[in-house]
Amino acid sequence: MDIRYPLKMVFMWLEGWFDRFFTPAWNPFYCLGALGYFYFWVVAASGLYLYIFFDTGIPQAYDSVEYMTHDQWYLAGVMRSLHRYASDALVVMMMMHLVREFAFDRYRGGRWYSWVTGVPMIWLVFAAGITGYWLVWDELAQYISIITTEWLDWLPIFGEPIARNFMAPSHFDGRFFTLLVFMHIALPLILLFLMWFHLQRINYSKTNPTRGLAVGTMLMLLVLSFIEPAVSHPIADLTKVPTELQLDWYYLWAYPMIEVLGPGFMWWFAFVGTVFLILIPWLPPRRRRARAVVNLENCNGCTRCYDDCPFSAIEMVKRTDGLAFEREAKVDPELCVSCGICAGACPTATPFRRASDLVPGIDLLENPIAAVREATEAAAENLSGTERIMIFDCEHALNTGKLGLPNTGSVELRCTAMLPPSFIDFVLSRNLADGVVLTGCREGQCQYRLGNEWVDGRLEGTRDPMLRKRVPRERLLKTWASPTDWRRFQAEVEAFREEIKALPEGDKPGGLKTVPGGREDKPSSTEETAA
Ligand code: HEM
Ligand code: SF4
Ligand code: SF4
Repeated sequence: MDIRYPLKMVFMWLEGWFDRFFTPAWNPFYCLGALGYFYFWVVAASGLYLYIFFDTGIPQAYDSVEYMTHDQWYLAGVMRSLHRYASDALVVMMMMHLVREFAFDRYRGGRWYSWVTGVPMIWLVFAAGITGYWLVWDELAQYISIITTEWLDWLPIFGEPIARNFMAPSHFDGRFFTLLVFMHIALPLILLFLMWFHLQRINYSKTNPTRGLAVGTMLMLLVLSFIEPAVSHPIADLTKVPTELQLDWYYLWAYPMIEVLGPGFMWWFAFVGTVFLILIPWLPPRRRRARAVVNLENCNGCTRCYDDCPFSAIEMVKRTDGLAFEREAKVDPELCVSCGICAGACPTATPFRRASDLVPGIDLLENPIAAVREATEAAAENLSGTERIMIFDCEHALNTGKLGLPNTGSVELRCTAMLPPSFIDFVLSRNLADGVVLTGCREGQCQYRLGNEWVDGRLEGTRDPMLRKRVPRERLLKTWASPTDWRRFQAEVEAFREEIKALPEGDKPGGLKTVPGGREDKPSSTEETAA
C-alpha cells in the first residue's frame, strides 16, 4: 500500500478543520514553509538582542544569561524565551513541512531539488539549536558537551578525544567555547543561505505567512514566554555529574538515545537516515510524464505561460524562427513537472478553434488541450434535459466522476488551472451543458502550488487569460474540494442544479448575455493573433 495515502488523508482531514476555524488564508498547514521563515527571523532578531548582553567567557557566560533571565526579565528574559520557543517551533514546522510534502507527493520529478536541499537544513537547524544550549554553560550544557563529544569521538577524526576537555575543570579549554559561539552564529547564516537555495526552482515562493497568521503566532510565542519563561539549570560543574535535567525534546531527543544505544548506533542512524532522505525522490524510480512542449507556430511570445509556471520551468528567449515576434517560450524539461498550467494560460488554447487543429503555443504531449476538448464533448453526449452539469476537476483532488451524480459529466485535468477559461464559454455557448462546475484541490493544497490562485484570478478578471464577460456567472460554480469533502461537494452541486433550474426560461446557454464583473467581451490582441 502507498503509505502516502493515509498520511495525506490525515492532513486533509485536519486541514479541513483548521479551514473551518481559521479560514484557508490563516490555516498554518498551508504556510508551513513560510512559517519556517518567520520563526527563523524571530530567532535571528531575538538572538541579536541576546548577543548584546552575552559574555563569551567561562563562567561569565552563565552569569550573563542569569542576568538576562532574572534582572532584565521584562526584555532580555522575554527575548531569551522567544529565542527558545521560536527555535522549537522551527523544528516542529520543519518536520511537519517535510512529512506534508512527502504525503502530498511534492518531492519527486522536477521537485527533487527542493527536497534534497531541505535535508542538510535539518542538520543545520539541529546543530544550531544544540550549540545554543551549550552556550548557557549550565548543567544541561555540561551534559550536552559530554554526550556530543563522546558521539564525535566515536569517529576517528580527532587526534585526541575531545571528550577529555570536559572531564575536569583543569582540562577545559576556553578556545573551544569561543569556537562554539562562532558556530552558533555561523550555522544559522549557512542555514539562511540554504533556505534561499531551497527555493531557487520555485516561482512566487511564499516566504511570509499571512499577516493574521504571523500576528497570531507571535502572540502565542509571547504569551508562552511570559507564562513559562526559559530558565537555566544550575551552573555547570565539571567535578560533578548532572543528575536532574529538563531536556528540550525538540532539539535534544537524540541524547538519551546516544546514552542508551551508543554513539555507533546513532552515527549509523544519522548516516542511513540522511542517505535515505536524500534518495527518497528516486525510491522507487518512476517514469516521468512527458514535459510541456512549445509549438512555435502558435506561440506569439505573450509571456503568459512564463508568468504562470509555478516552477520557473519556462524562459522567454529571443525568437528563433523568424516570425515577427520578439520572443518565444522555451521549456526546461528538468524543471517541468507536467502540470499543464502553462497550457491553461496560453491564449491560443481556445476550444472554439475549428479551422485548424487545436494545437496551443504550449501543451502537454500526454494530455493535450485537444484531448480536453474531446473529453468535454464526449461527456456532454451523455447529458440530457435542462439541468445538465459539466464538471472540470483535478486528478489530485476529489474524483467527481466516481460520485455518480445524475446528468453530470466530469472531465479530469492535471490541475484545474490547466483549463483555459474559454472552455467554460465553449461549454455554455455551444449548449453542451446548462451549468459548469470548476473544482480542484482546496485552497492551500494545490498539488502545483498556484492552481487555485490562477483560476481565481482568471475568473475574477484580474489575471490573463480572463473569463469573458459574456459568460453568465450564475451558470458557473467554483468550489474547491479534497477527497474528504465529497459530501459537501455533492450538496453544493445539487443546490447549484436547483439554482439553474430556477433561472428564467429565456436565459439559456447558447444565447449568452453580458454580465458585469468580467473583462470586456472583445478577445485580447494576443487571442486574435493566435486563434
Ligand atoms: C528551515 C527549514 C525549511 C524552510 C524554512 C522551508 C521553506 C520552504 C518554503 C518557503 C517553500 C515554498 C513553499 C511554497 O511557496 O509553495 C518550501 C518548499 C519545499 N520544501 Fe521546504 N523548507 C524547510 C525545510 C524543508 C525540508 C527539511 C524538506 C524536506 C527534506 C523540504 C522540502 C520542500 C519541498 C519538496 C518543497 C517544494 C514543494 C513544492 O514544490 O510544492 N523543506 N520550503
Ligand atoms: S503564446 Fe502561449 S506558449 Fe507562447 S508565450 Fe504566450 S502563453 Fe506561452
Ligand atoms: S507543465 Fe507548464 S506550467 Fe507546469 S511546470 Fe511544466 S512548463 Fe511549468
